[in-house]
Amino acid sequence: MNNPIIVFDSGFGGISVLKRLIEKMPNEDYLYYGDSANAPYGPRTTAEVQQLTLNAIAEASKGVEPKAIVIACNTATAATRELLQETYPNIPVIGILPAVELAAKSKDHPRVLALATAGTCASTAFQNILKRVGDSAEVVPVPAPSIVVYVEGAMKDRETVKKALAESFAPYMDKPFDSVVLGCTHFPFAADVIAEVLGYPVDFFDGSALTVRQTEEALAKNNTRSTQERTGSLKIINSGNRQDLVGFAWTLFCAELKV
Ligand code: DGL
Repeated sequence: MNNPIIVFDSGFGGISVLKRLIEKMPNEDYLYYGDSANAPYGPRTTAEVQQLTLNAIAEASKGVEPKAIVIACNTATAATRELLQETYPNIPVIGILPAVELAAKSKDHPRVLALATAGTCASTAFQNILKRVGDSAEVVPVPAPSIVVYVEGAMKDRETVKKALAESFAPYMDKPFDSVVLGCTHFPFAADVIAEVLGYPVDFFDGSALTVRQTEEALAKNNTRSTQERTGSLKIINSGNRQDLVGFAWTLFCAELKV
């Protein structure tokens, strides 16, 4: 593997972004690092998320010279993107944030359910997004930690996550939502569960298309796009250091995204 793109998440969620990066840039080499040993990041303090992210990127970069670092985690992006860019001034650091603006523009004054982690909801980056949207949409931010636990638990306990989501959504079920923002990279893997709990069709939005575009642009600007004609390589590392965790990461990678 030569000059890979590092794709990082607190656990398995970033695989939803990795899949889209590979769809768009199949001839790049990728190194996916999931920090499942320390997930979930959502309930942690900003300082903890910053330290864990710095540690994870240092670990992932051992023995490789990444051409780009993609923080495929909204929580880590909100807490750490600038700090990481300062730490690695010569490598483009691209992040992901909840696509609330995209959802807000999708129709006239939509009602938007913005699902994210508690850390993302409390972040300045997220508050700034809400300010930019202003009153062009009715945005209802709801933390959904149960989905992270569900995905990190190899998506075995569907009934528990459904019950937890039904409780979180209950105060807002008086009127239907037009769209749902999947503001955490774990959430695209549970879009079907979210739709089932809501009980009616909604449009889903996530920030991965912008992340892919920004990664392509950063590589083009640095003139580091791969010129190899063969399909690139993919290495998956999980800090949990267990074969079953890496195995589940590959299962998710091979599964079709439902959004
Ligand atoms: N996947 C992460 C995100 O996009 C965070 C999940 C977690 O560890 O709580 O925010």
